[in-house]
Amino acid sequence: MSNHPDRTSEWWREAVFYHIYPLSFADSDGDGYGDLDGIISKLDYLSDTLGINAVWLSPFYRSPMKDWGYDISDHTDVDPIFGDLSTARQLIAEAHSRGIRVIVDYVMNHSSDHHPWFIESRSSRENAKRDWYVWRDSDQDGGPPTNWVSVFNGPAWTLDEMTGQWYRHTYLPEQPDLNWRNPELVEAMMDVVRFWLDAGADGFRIDAAHQMMKDPEEKNNPPVPHDFQPAYKDMGEYDTFVHLYDLGHPDVHDAHRGFRTLLDSYPQQPISVGEIHIFDLSEWASYYGDDLDEFSMPFNFHLMAADWNASSIRATIEAVHRTVPAGAWTNWTLGNHDEIRIASRLPEGHDRLAALLLLTLRGTPFLYYGDELGMKQTPVSAQDAKDPWGENVEYLSRDGARTPMQWNPGPNAGFAPDGASPWLPIPDDYKSVNVDTELAESGSMLNMYRQLLDIRRESEALRLGSIIVHSSSSDDALVYGRESDDQMLTVALNFSDERMIVPTRPGRIIFSTSDPKRADVVLDEVSLDRGEGVVVCHS
Ligand code: NOJ
Repeated sequence: MSNHPDRTSEWWREAVFYHIYPLSFADSDGDGYGDLDGIISKLDYLSDTLGINAVWLSPFYRSPMKDWGYDISDHTDVDPIFGDLSTARQLIAEAHSRGIRVIVDYVMNHSSDHHPWFIESRSSRENAKRDWYVWRDSDQDGGPPTNWVSVFNGPAWTLDEMTGQWYRHTYLPEQPDLNWRNPELVEAMMDVVRFWLDAGADGFRIDAAHQMMKDPEEKNNPPVPHDFQPAYKDMGEYDTFVHLYDLGHPDVHDAHRGFRTLLDSYPQQPISVGEIHIFDLSEWASYYGDDLDEFSMPFNFHLMAADWNASSIRATIEAVHRTVPAGAWTNWTLGNHDEIRIASRLPEGHDRLAALLLLTLRGTPFLYYGDELGMKQTPVSAQDAKDPWGENVEYLSRDGARTPMQWNPGPNAGFAPDGASPWLPIPDDYKSVNVDTELAESGSMLNMYRQLLDIRRESEALRLGSIIVHSSSSDDALVYGRESDDQMLTVALNFSDERMIVPTRPGRIIFSTSDPKRADVVLDEVSLDRGEGVVVCHS
């Protein structure tokens, strides 16, 4: 076990995280892109209106924006679109003064091709930084060294004409892979970690964390068998191969242990949440580390992969809790900047059930900006498209989940000053789906989230208590108990289109997704409207 003083009292176990995509949260200067000053101006919303405890900021570093910030050309500077370093420091300080922790994105797998390290690396085969990236000769037929394809489709190798070798890129050709088997590169990347922790950051979300170590023998991936079904979503050409050799080689764990050792030397108990898109549960859980010495938590995407029905979600919750190692903690999420928005992915009205789940399961919830308003996937025309993934495969475009936050019914939904042109379109429904309008409406999605956040804040059973998932009385009902020393709650969700009666113990309803005033006393059963979820308090 690593030497951290007390793992069970880590601050982030009880926190609710809110994920901000900085390009789309608030544009203070009218250039159409969100910025750090914009985020600062909305901190009161996060602390007072919502009462969340931590934010995760997607990248705001210097970047040519080929993958909208996930292609970094300077890890320790802020892109002028977003502001500057002093604004980043001010943002962290102002968030802290409101009791909000700040975690930032750490893109381990790759940099931008405009990063000075890559510019040097590609300048000649003899350059001192040549080995900071992955360079290989052609295969015997003059083609790329392996058959590996990039996540964004197309070959994962690009030939550099000048030096006659191929460099590897798990994503765009403009995102060359860093070579984590080179100790100098590792040290340079550790300096990046130190830089942000010294600046006051409370931890990191680690991008593509399982992809960075590939098989050293670099064998070709086999094609998928005919009956293969993607565990998650259909990723196009990427899904035509079994990814045996181009991700997750065992030494990935050495890299993450080194990273964790550095994090644990800082006083702020930094959190690390690894983006691990692996759906084999035991392999997924291996990213906690054998001695809980890797990530604080691998991101838990299992709810996103589950079918949206009570039995599949029940099985997922139980399987995750059975797999999380003793002493460790998990998290739950249903949306982020890479996924179709919850309100469009789920059946009508079920985004309310999603909120109830996220905020009452045992584990740290990660909410995605705008989901608390019920923002839907925005249709984005080919002319307005921005996401490089959508350029290659249209249905994979992530633009629709990244459109500007809807603050009010005024011009540009309050995201940008009047007259500005937001970088992505704002949907017509913003006149009703926005913060100001919803705050004024009892029963709005926003007020429902606020009620749930209040209940969670006040309830130790929900924040830290045990969970017992009840065996089912119906295929459409999901029922679980949450319990602490002095409180016992039951959460019951009706996934069907019919009213239903669910057995329970005596208590009082303290929350309903359908009726903010519902507060009836129940004896041995509770009646649930179609698509309704409730919390019953028994003590
Ligand atoms: C995962 C990030 O969430 C996604 O937005 C990005 O495009 C890729 N990694 C590459 O960094």
